[in-house]
Amino acid sequence: MSDEEKESSPSKPSDSGEGKPKSKRRAPVRRKKPASPNAKKAEEVTSEKVAPEVASVADQKPEKSESEQKIDESHPKLQTKPKSSAKPKEKEGKPEDRRHSSARSQRQPNRKPQEHAAKYHEDQARNVRDIANLKGKRPIVALTAYDSVMGRLVNDAGVDFILVGDSVGTTLLGHLTTIPVDMTDMVRHTAAVRRAQPKCLLVADLPFGEASFSFDRLLESARRLMQEGGADAVKIEGGRDVADDIEKLVATGVPVLGHIGLLPQTVKAIGGYRKFGIDRHEAEDLFTDAIALEEAGCFAVVAEMIEEAVARELTKQILPPLIGIGSGAGCDGQILVSTDILGYNTRKAPSFVKSYANLNQVISRALSQYVEEVRGGKFPC
Ligand code: KIV
Repeated sequence: MSDEEKESSPSKPSDSGEGKPKSKRRAPVRRKKPASPNAKKAEEVTSEKVAPEVASVADQKPEKSESEQKIDESHPKLQTKPKSSAKPKEKEGKPEDRRHSSARSQRQPNRKPQEHAAKYHEDQARNVRDIANLKGKRPIVALTAYDSVMGRLVNDAGVDFILVGDSVGTTLLGHLTTIPVDMTDMVRHTAAVRRAQPKCLLVADLPFGEASFSFDRLLESARRLMQEGGADAVKIEGGRDVADDIEKLVATGVPVLGHIGLLPQTVKAIGGYRKFGIDRHEAEDLFTDAIALEEAGCFAVVAEMIEEAVARELTKQILPPLIGIGSGAGCDGQILVSTDILGYNTRKAPSFVKSYANLNQVISRALSQYVEEVRGGKFPC
């Protein structure tokens, strides 16, 4: 608002100027310059669009004295429409200019979409020590996430750790197994979850082959997951065969989550997904592997599809928490694939998964409704 407008504004108490000589108060109106054609047009538009409540404020303007009215009548230029201070006067200019200025205002920093902060749960594990300390106190709970949206939701649900699993390959990327998943995939998805700023521990999977070339390659891959992806720790499939390298990795400061039982990265070698530890020989192997990982310094061990009684016994025998997936209720904690429990998938979830939602159905209904509404001319309305 210009000084000129401020002074003539009817809603400004100082302008009503009680006690002041009225001729002085009206002086600014007399200074009004002849308006340019564009400005006149703009004024017409503004005054036509004056909101009723604004108009009523203008109507409340103190009545003019007889002498004031005479002066106004004898000077047609002074017969200005009451101005409103409640509605800022539109800038002069062509409609295009106004459109540009509104586009500009949308670029203002205060128009940035506001993101809600990740929730902080008092008893949520924050680091590997917290996870290890939870053993014997309460069940540890974990879920997978592969992007920022799910990362935020999973954190906010209060999990103790998020795993960016190589299951991203089968759940989101359309692969039949986790074998095609590579470091590029894992770094990208881990970084996406990190951007959700979860308060809990964030673990990333070492993809197929990365632990098998050499220790240097393993260290380099772990480095990428932590430095480029922002992981707090890495998960490595395997038992005694990888224990030495895990020990070296832990010694360099890389926290490691072990993984025994069904190792999805070996699915081609084992000929399909199945339960482990059913016969005595396999059960003994699992004990050897679990103890090797404990000695290597794993802060916890995932036990996938291990016979319930064997998993229960393993839980008692090893110091790090055993986090089960399809291994029964006797473990120190549970982890599941988030898309499986949410019913957001193109393939059937494993039989041990409990379904907590049917997102496929929810999304499918919403999408069909959108398609129908656009085709039927109901949207946009
Ligand atoms: O990749 C993954 O999601 C996993 C879990 C099944 C533990 O390894």
